Amino acid sequence: MFTQEKDYFLFSTATTSLVLHVNEVGKLVCEYYGSRISSLEEAPSLTSPHPFIQGTSLAYDEKHQNVSLDYLHNEFSTPGKGDFHAPSLVLSEGQEVVFDFVYDSFEVKTPEKIPGLPTPHGAKEEVVITCLEKARKAKLRLHYLVYEEEDVIGRYLEIVNENEAVLSVHKAASLQLCLLNHGDSLVSLYGAWANELNPEEAPLRHGRFLNESMSGLSSNRHNPFFLIKEKGGDAQHGACYGFNLVYSGNHQESVELDTFEVVTIQSGISPFLFKKDLAKEEHFYTPMAVMSYSKEGTNGLSLHYQDFVNDCVIPSVWKGRIRPIVYNNWEATMFSFNKAKLTSLMKEASALGIELFVLDDGWFGERNDDRHGLGDWECNTKKIPGGLASLSKEAKKLGLKFGIWMEPEMVNKASKCYQAHPDWIIHDGVHEPTEGRHQYLLDLRKKEVQDFVYASVSNVLNSADISYLKWDCNRMMSDFPEGYTSFFYDDVVGLYSVLERLVEDFPNVLFENCASGGNRFDLGMLSYFPQSWLSDDTDSFQRLTIQAGAAYGYPLSVMSNHVAAKTSNQLLRLTSLDSKFDVASFGVLGYELDLNDLTPLDKKIIQGQIAYYKEHRPLFQFGHRYQLASFKEGNDEAVEILAKDEAIVGRYEKLQKPSPEEARLTAVGLDEKSHYLYQSRPESLSMKKFGHLVNMASPIHLKEEGFLINTISARHDLASEVEKGMASGTALLSGGVALAQEWSGVGYSSEVRLVGDFGGRLYALKKR
Ligand code: DGJ
Repeated sequence: MFTQEKDYFLFSTATTSLVLHVNEVGKLVCEYYGSRISSLEEAPSLTSPHPFIQGTSLAYDEKHQNVSLDYLHNEFSTPGKGDFHAPSLVLSEGQEVVFDFVYDSFEVKTPEKIPGLPTPHGAKEEVVITCLEKARKAKLRLHYLVYEEEDVIGRYLEIVNENEAVLSVHKAASLQLCLLNHGDSLVSLYGAWANELNPEEAPLRHGRFLNESMSGLSSNRHNPFFLIKEKGGDAQHGACYGFNLVYSGNHQESVELDTFEVVTIQSGISPFLFKKDLAKEEHFYTPMAVMSYSKEGTNGLSLHYQDFVNDCVIPSVWKGRIRPIVYNNWEATMFSFNKAKLTSLMKEASALGIELFVLDDGWFGERNDDRHGLGDWECNTKKIPGGLASLSKEAKKLGLKFGIWMEPEMVNKASKCYQAHPDWIIHDGVHEPTEGRHQYLLDLRKKEVQDFVYASVSNVLNSADISYLKWDCNRMMSDFPEGYTSFFYDDVVGLYSVLERLVEDFPNVLFENCASGGNRFDLGMLSYFPQSWLSDDTDSFQRLTIQAGAAYGYPLSVMSNHVAAKTSNQLLRLTSLDSKFDVASFGVLGYELDLNDLTPLDKKIIQGQIAYYKEHRPLFQFGHRYQLASFKEGNDEAVEILAKDEAIVGRYEKLQKPSPEEARLTAVGLDEKSHYLYQSRPESLSMKKFGHLVNMASPIHLKEEGFLINTISARHDLASEVEKGMASGTALLSGGVALAQEWSGVGYSSEVRLVGDFGGRLYALKKR
């Protein structure tokens, strides 16, 4: 909702408000961002008074000796007129760099798509505030969009040159917001391959903190999402401000704390090697930054972003649409498969209740390893006689849908595509191009490359009955042909133009975003592809941290997770299939282990998991996710998903303790006045878990690694405790209900809770 009175603008969502003000010198400043206020009546009281300036600060002009740009909560800042914060906007005209934009006008209009860039949908109106730099004939248009129900406000800039001289944009943060520091800390998400999205919290320090990607992709190093949290706040309490950028390339987030305890926050494209020259009448558009506020801790803030992504970011056709359980052959076979192997995997997948079979890397060209074939998107019929069409038919016969992997932005040197078009890759023409996984990036600024990528993907999709496509991108950018241009930006815009065409032409194909896992996990990609392979790390313990990091700013529906082999490829850590399911089920579930190697017991376990997931699927995919406890703070992690009258709580343990403490099942968000039935998910305890102790119960002696125990445990297990009961919302929200005593080395019984190292348990709650 938007209202305007005198010199004030009020933007309100369901629970938040933002008040902007055009001050006495025509500067646009933020006077308030916090819980919703009802009108602008109180705006004068929210306005920061500046009756004088002190010490070495500069007066804006002779007439306004009390106004210094350095004190104002500027909605944008330029250098050269007395604001000594890092500028959010750096422009030049020839050698001139001082720009002084002042307010001119505003208009309210129907929201429009940002030219070339993904634009969240669902805002009712768009408010454009225009500021002018008269001396240089430059126009700055600030676009504000309110996503009311989701409690999110979006902003982007449009810069227009109205002068004969070229106007250069060096930096243009989409958003700048100034807040007061309350002992705040900053939470950002850092990482690397197979270790993405680590949440890190640090108190704000005087000076400037940058969270940035300069890799060409939004990157696994620093996700564009971050939040500011007030002192003493936690998952459930305290004021939090969150920020994200709808963009997939280089980005920069800046948090600067000054001596007046003002925090200046910026979010936008990275100024790294950036310069965009605008001729007369040319416009430059930044991507949209989206901010939100909650006084209900990091979970409260996360809920806003969960709703925002589900309602306003992912393509509308996928909103609330149930996602299939996939089987992906990558970790099971890598490049080494043939049609017979794939068909046998399909048979097993179908018998287990899996719904979609995904053929990963290695099906095209000469792609028998990662040195060959990228760019040659024709099925290798030596490996798969009859091609993709025949495989998709096999899948259909077995009641499975069929999906495919592609990495359309890349070529190997050893490919027909590269041999025919060596000039299509990103290279500077001087140095030997740098390889990443033996491959090069195609230059998506070129129209013929965009057309090639579009044609490659659409030909594959049209060649068989394909309902899913995993879009990979396994290297970062190097050997840029140009620096100090808009190269990186134009490349991303080129990619978006291809994605736009594809999702428009194939609205019912489920595209899954993947960039070696989470190397391009952002709101830009999610605007086209409704789900994302979060990480190549399928170790469930590590994945918990990755999912928890993602959950600060993204919903369950976008997190694709797979149950992989018991011994993880990445860490060689051994965890049970059930522990893996306890983690992978929070989001979009898949399987990625060799189904031909499963024991009869494994199959029974997986069938049980799939049945459980199907029963609770709307909750797992579209419930609200809350973080209850975290390994960062101790030995336990707990996560809850909640929707209306149902919830599932996942409880996880890092290491089994020798004298375990008592445990209680607690939850958040429930109705205090209602009563809930709760029940733990029965899990399978492997007999091998007990090692030589199994002999205490066995009539014959079983050697710990012997043939007999291996044979028996392939078919038989021990049942976990099953806990069920009824409790009030009040009890579950406060003290919690008592759980069974945990294993402490004194005998197994069905009343003992044996979770063990890296183990978990799920508890379903339903309103009575
Ligand atoms: C990286 C992805 O993240 C994996 O899941 C797999 O698809 C490989 N690429 C295939 O090359």
